[in-house]
Amino acid sequence: MQLTEFVAELDALSAAATSAFDSAADAPALEAARIEYLGAKSGKLKDAQKKLGGVAKEDKPAAGKKFNEVKTAIESAFQSAQARLASGPAKKASGPLFDPTLPGKPLRIGHLHPITQTIEELKDIMGRLGFSVADGPEIEDEWHNFEALNIPADHPARDPLDNFFLSTAQVAAKGTGDRGQGTAKNPKSQIPNSKSTGPLLLRSQTSTVQIRVMEKTKPPVRVISIGRVYRPDEADKTHYPMFHQIEGLLVDRGITMAHLKSVLRMFATSYLGQDVHVRFRPSFFPFTEPSVEVDMHWNDRWIELGGAGMVDPNVLTAVGYDPEVVTGFAFGLGVERACMRRHGIEDIRFFHQNDVRFLSQF
Ligand code: FA5
Repeated sequence: MQLTEFVAELDALSAAATSAFDSAADAPALEAARIEYLGAKSGKLKDAQKKLGGVAKEDKPAAGKKFNEVKTAIESAFQSAQARLASGPAKKASGPLFDPTLPGKPLRIGHLHPITQTIEELKDIMGRLGFSVADGPEIEDEWHNFEALNIPADHPARDPLDNFFLSTAQVAAKGTGDRGQGTAKNPKSQIPNSKSTGPLLLRSQTSTVQIRVMEKTKPPVRVISIGRVYRPDEADKTHYPMFHQIEGLLVDRGITMAHLKSVLRMFATSYLGQDVHVRFRPSFFPFTEPSVEVDMHWNDRWIELGGAGMVDPNVLTAVGYDPEVVTGFAFGLGVERACMRRHGIEDIRFFHQNDVRFLSQF
C-alpha cells in the first residue's frame, strides 16, 4: 500500500470520527460512535492499524508516526465529547435550580418627594425650637387672606390679576372636592371662622394661618404652618404658580427683632450648616412693622428666602390681642427655594416634572 494512500485514509478516518463524536447527542450515541471508531476488536482505527503491515518497509516509520497522530486526535475528540455531555443540559436540569449564595437583586424602593422631605425636616427643626404645627385651609376668604392682615380693599395685592379668585357661584353649582372648603349649597360654610362675605380665593400666602391661630388662641403663641399657596406667577426657574411656604409666628411679652433674627439664624444653621449668614434687608409687608426681606448666604451665594417682621399692631388688634401688652414676630419663607439652595437645584420646575432621574437623587 502506498504511503500517500494510507495517509489519506487516516485523515478521512480522523475527520469522520471527530464528526461522529461531536454530533453525538447523548451518552448512548457517543458509545456507539466509540465502538465504531475506537472499538478494540473491529473498530475502524483497529482496521487502519492492520493496514500498516501492507506499507512498504522504507515508509513504515512515517506511516507509524501518522497513525499515532491520528489515534491521539480521535481519542481526544472522544474525550471532548464525553466532557461536553457531562456538563450538558441533561446534567444541568438535574442540578440545583438556583445558587442561593448569589447576591440578591436590589429592589428599587420609592421614597417621599423632595418637597415633602423638606417639609418634614423643617417641621422637625422648628419643633426643636419649640414651635408647634398649625394648619389652615387652602381656599380662603378675604378676611384671612387680606383684611385681618392689614391689607385694605384698595391694596394692589388684592388685584384679581394677582390672585386666584374663585367664582363661588361655580363652586356652589359643582360642589367641592376634598380641598374645597364648602358644601355645594354654601361653599363658605366649611371654612372655619369665615368672617367675610366677599369672594373666595386660593390663599396666596400662609400668613392666613397667623390670623386663624391668633383668633382661637390666647398669647403666648409659638407656631409654624407649612403648606401650599397659589399665585398666578408665570413659571420660570424660580417661580411656580403653586409653591409652599413655611410661616412662623411667635407672640409673647417682650418679643423683639433680636428674637426673630436668632430664630431664623438657628433655623438656617440647622438646615444648611454652621457657615450660613442671615441678612435682613428693609422691606414692606402690610402685616409687619418693621418688615424685612430675609436673605441667607451659603456656599458663596446669597439667596432671598422670604419676608419677616414684627407683627403689625393693627393685626394684633384685629384678632383681639392687646398690642400694648404683647408683641410678636412672623416670617414666611419659600420651601422650594430653601430645598433648591440646599441641593443645588437650578430650576423649580424639576419638582413638578415627575422625572424619576431627578426624583431618585433625593
Ligand atoms: C410673603 O408671602 C409674606 N407672606 C411673607 C411674610 C410672612 C412676611 C410673615 C412677613 C411676615 P413673599 O411674597 O415675598 O412674602 O413670598 C415669600 C417667599 O415665597 C419668597 O421670598 C420666595 O421664597 C417664595 N415665593 C414667592 N413667590 C414664589 C413663586 N411663584 N414660586 C416659588 N416661590 C415663591
